[in-house]
Amino acid sequence: MRGIKSLKEAWEEAQQQGWSSGETSSLQNLRFEARLDKWEEVETRSGQGTETMLRPTSQAAAPYPRSISAVYGLDEQPLHVDGAHFPTPPDVVLLFCDAPNETPTNVLSIKELDLRFASAKEYLPSEYLRHGIFIVGSGPAAFLAPVLDAGRLRYDPNVMEPADARARDAADYLRSLQDKATPFHWSVPKSYLLIANRLALHGRAKVVESDSAREVTRVAYRIGAKR
Ligand SMILES: [Fe+2]
Repeated sequence: MRGIKSLKEAWEEAQQQGWSSGETSSLQNLRFEARLDKWEEVETRSGQGTETMLRPTSQAAAPYPRSISAVYGLDEQPLHVDGAHFPTPPDVVLLFCDAPNETPTNVLSIKELDLRFASAKEYLPSEYLRHGIFIVGSGPAAFLAPVLDAGRLRYDPNVMEPADARARDAADYLRSLQDKATPFHWSVPKSYLLIANRLALHGRAKVVESDSAREVTRVAYRIGAKR
């Protein structure tokens, strides 16, 4: 019989690989484990609560104008970090699926990015990921930030506008990695995907036609200094 790993073990793995996955008896079980580990549930959109049910939503039906659904609808989502518009995005994104479906979630670890240090001779992605400046969000709460800061990612093309040439190169580079992501298949009932939100990018694949009822529950966490 296969042992069920603890949330702590899954998180250890996620910090190494960008994400981890497993099966659980219920989402509430995982949330309980998270509480015991003193993880703090956080909203990924203000006023929405900490548990969000994600369903395929067409562009026309999307409730928030700058949400991923409003822009991409049922198409493949660009790779992103959840809550990228917050000054401190969540550390963890936990996705849970009660029933299997055919539409995978794509994940790409920070290890897949070319983060070699640039030299005078070479202009490498690390240069523009670290130094390209984006305007994050809009209105009075907008702020400036790069994609990579102290080894942690922040990126969502929906809420981050390149403010200089290096940021435009960073956006192009990240777009070019879209096909390099690993699809996580929701083929087992009650499975979960634990994403290290600052160490990996993710995005739902294009919704398979038969998946209009696909439901994924998301809970995001901040775990502070422990990471
Ligand atoms: Fe997301």
